[in-house]
Amino acid sequence: MLKSTQAQQHLPRRTAPRVARSAKSLVLSRRSSSRSASGTAMASSMRKVAILGAAGGIGQPLALLLKMNPFVTNLALYDIANTPGVAADLSHINTSIQVAGYAGDDQLGDALAGCDLVIIPAGVPRKPGMTRDDLFEINAGIVKTLVTACGEHCPNAVINIISNPVNSTVPIAAEVLKAKGVYDPKKVFGVTTLDIVRSNTFLAELKGFDVVETDVPVIGGHAGITILPLLSQATPMADYTAEEIEALTTRIQNAGTEVVEAKDGAGSATLSMAYAAARFAESCLRGMNGEPVFECAYVESSVVEGLDYFASKVKLGPRGAEEVFPVGDLTPFEEECLEKLKPELKSSIEKGIAFGQK
Ligand SMILES: NC(=O)c1ccc[n+]([C@@H]2O[C@H](COP(=O)([O-])OP(=O)(O)OC[C@H]3O[C@@H](n4cnc5c(N)ncnc54)[C@H](O)[C@@H]3O)[C@@H](O)[C@H]2O)c1
Repeated sequence: MLKSTQAQQHLPRRTAPRVARSAKSLVLSRRSSSRSASGTAMASSMRKVAILGAAGGIGQPLALLLKMNPFVTNLALYDIANTPGVAADLSHINTSIQVAGYAGDDQLGDALAGCDLVIIPAGVPRKPGMTRDDLFEINAGIVKTLVTACGEHCPNAVINIISNPVNSTVPIAAEVLKAKGVYDPKKVFGVTTLDIVRSNTFLAELKGFDVVETDVPVIGGHAGITILPLLSQATPMADYTAEEIEALTTRIQNAGTEVVEAKDGAGSATLSMAYAAARFAESCLRGMNGEPVFECAYVESSVVEGLDYFASKVKLGPRGAEEVFPVGDLTPFEEECLEKLKPELKSSIEKGIAFGQK
């Protein structure tokens, strides 16, 4: 059996905010005591996590990673089909997490009952030539249905939305929960962690940094130019040429398309996304257990005037996103990128709100 300490070594690292020095040192001090901290968390917290879309390309490897996560006690795998098989398969892994499969509408309520965290990767992925917004027609309805069920069966759960277009699906989720009278803006997240994961990898490659020590905050949204990596706030600090900054920013913004094209019609990022989703889920669970954790995420926000939803650093705690940090000092290039992304992000938000209110 994988002991928790062994499993822990394979778990992803969290980011620390450069926006708040004192907060950063909290995260760093947590690293040195993470093993005893995780032991306490396991003993004291029962956490049920549901994955909706669990039989899919992201859902399956995400379920595997969460079956190895000591912060989870029960894993509910829901999809329209095939989850009994995925659950049976995973249930043979000798970690203590209980796994159950749920398939079809009539089992959705049971999957969600008692959940602390719901992760939603349900929906269709991109094919070459498609933007994330092209997925709206199908995925908007799927997210609306699933979040409606969350509002009915686990109104206090934290919700992590992966289904694209995230820039619109998060506002949809918020409107659905508002209509049910159970919306808590601290608990609804668009998962943008893959943008941070990719940025860390690409920057470390470019500058020869240790990737484990590399941290790039990424703000804005999760589609094309709305993805804005803040290289000026990245750690370790480095000198960049203007060409390096432009090329790296463009690569990060188009990284999803790089995978879509390489997969040549077989979908979008699944394995790296599962890793990113597992990292963000663990950060949420650590936060619930009283450990302050910092991540960039797409949330309801007042950080940028005129954009009601925006990705920036947040502090995760027992009540969800307990603090949403401002973007900090930007370079003229980053300011320009921020101005450019505003109209697209605003229109995606408005589209989501309108659909959610229908
Ligand atoms: N946020 C991100 O960074 C990010 C990254 C990559 C992919 N994505 C998005 O994640 C989503 C899933 O991608 P994938 O590659 O896993 O797709 P996939 O097609 O492999 O899997 C999607 C799963 O959702 C299920 N599903 C469809 N309708 C459902 C419903 N009503 N209820 C429950 N399950 C339902 C399908 O049966 C399928 O198993 C896509 O929208 C994709 O664009 C987001």
